[in-house]
Amino acid sequence: MKIVSIVGARPQFIKCAPVSREFRKEHEEILVHTGQHYDHGMSEVFFEELAIPKPDYNLGIGSGTHGRQTGAMLGAIEDVLEKENPDAVLVYGDTNSTLAGALAAAKLHIPVAHVEAGLRSFDRRMPEEVNRVLTDHCSDMLFCPTETAARNLASEGVTEGVFLVGDVMCDAMEYNRAVAEERSRILEDIGVEPGNYLVVTVHRPSNTDSREKITAILGALGEAGRPVVFPVHPRTRKYLSGYGLLVEMPENIRVIEPLGYLDMLHLMAHAEKILTDSGGVQKEAYMLGVPCITLRENTEWVETVEAGWNVLVGAGREKILEAIRSFTPERRPKSCFGNGKAGSEIARILSRRVRD
Ligand code: UD1
Ligand code: UDP
Repeated sequence: MKIVSIVGARPQFIKCAPVSREFRKEHEEILVHTGQHYDHGMSEVFFEELAIPKPDYNLGIGSGTHGRQTGAMLGAIEDVLEKENPDAVLVYGDTNSTLAGALAAAKLHIPVAHVEAGLRSFDRRMPEEVNRVLTDHCSDMLFCPTETAARNLASEGVTEGVFLVGDVMCDAMEYNRAVAEERSRILEDIGVEPGNYLVVTVHRPSNTDSREKITAILGALGEAGRPVVFPVHPRTRKYLSGYGLLVEMPENIRVIEPLGYLDMLHLMAHAEKILTDSGGVQKEAYMLGVPCITLRENTEWVETVEAGWNVLVGAGREKILEAIRSFTPERRPKSCFGNGKAGSEIARILSRRVRD
């Protein structure tokens, strides 16, 4: 059996690693990188660290408006699919690369498999929410990480080809956690003590594209009273620089380049708390048992909030500060993202379904 897997953005490289590893034990995979992310620290570093095979195609699409970026991907992916003629196309998550891959395949009548299906924030102003809904509705196999995701699909009438397999990011973490602990020197490099610093990531347009919100977030972090490590996403760097905020950064905030996966895991694992608007980071905080303060009004990872380990604070200065000072989960986090075997489940189901 031959599949084409489509990736393009940072979290997709991490998600594809465990699936690719399992799938290639018995089948052929053609890996397509759309080129949505292209800086070394946003792309290549993950291929190196996670031993992901070199992409067979790099479409080099790069950045652009939603329409132009997605449109350019659509045409280029179509060419690859016509040439490769795979048995199925595998897409991950909720980026423009996901939607372009799913749509190109569906129009060519190639079965589409979606990893991380059924996630919903119910906020259509998020570009990812549009990508999620459309991708799910043109997918033939929908691999859900959580029961909530499967329920979301059912409530939209999608019940065929739905599989609850657990979360591939849990696989990635289980595989790499000990390696990160052994190899990463990031705490020493930055000069922070375990348990005595905060980690923050911000890249959602709802925060970065609003001068007021990003200023409020940085204002709260500046008053946190402990070191804050801030690996800055290139989108965020662009906006911070445009607003003139990079040069006015409060002293306790250590602005650094985006980290590789192993350093990021290690840094998060030893943080006192994590503040983020990232989907993946909310989940990882939960899996690592680190309290998470989410700089959004909603989340698709509702289990983390229900379990008491994640609090939604939006971008209000006072709410963020209050959470930094006093958000302390009491219950133990329970496992809700699977058992680290999602990759092998996906490979098994894919090969069975596609052969039938
Ligand atoms: C994208 C995804 C988002 C995901 C995030 C993961 C969409 C709509 N958004 O957001 O769901 O959470 O990736 O990180 O698909 N840039 C660089 N170098 C790079 C990549 C980007 O400088 O390697 C800059 C460019 O200025 C670009 C901006 O970042 O315009 C945004 O990049 P883009 O891929 O369009 O969206 P993200 O914000 O990264
Ligand atoms: N990540 C990383 N380096 C960083 C920031 C994030 O390796 O500097 C990892 C993080 O651990 C998680 C993934 O990137 O596995 C999340 O990606 P991102 O926040 O870009 O996107 P989202 O999950 O919001 O789509």
